[in-house]
Amino acid sequence: MIGRLNHVAIAVPDLDAAAAVYRNALGAQVSAPQAEPDHGVTVVFVELSNTKIELLHPLGDNSPIQAFLNKNPSGGMHHVCYEVDDILAARDRLKAEGARVLGNGEPKIGAHGKPVLFLHPKDFCGTLVEIEQA
Ligand code: CO
Repeated sequence: MIGRLNHVAIAVPDLDAAAAVYRNALGAQVSAPQAEPDHGVTVVFVELSNTKIELLHPLGDNSPIQAFLNKNPSGGMHHVCYEVDDILAARDRLKAEGARVLGNGEPKIGAHGKPVLFLHPKDFCGTLVEIEQA
């Protein structure tokens, strides 16, 4: 069912430092920071030939990233995002398999302007999974 790996998101306590690591030490192409107030994050996109890395930093008071950074002060992998062709069909299949869909179960428009859902980490090997209708 899942298709391409769309991105891996890494929560970071210092966005400039993280961007510098990817730009300088790893030699990657790194975007300018982009504020996404609707999602409570500022994002730096790292473009790789086969996928993206998203460096996430909390923005605003109710950022979903803040609790993660409180538990992981030096940062860490926050979620992986897989593409699906049909997000509602994917959701229904996952629910039938017993997976927990976070929130109210209805897709939201994600940071790329496409519908997304998040799946409970306990159902996916300890990893928060995002699915995006590509
Ligand atoms: Co994501």
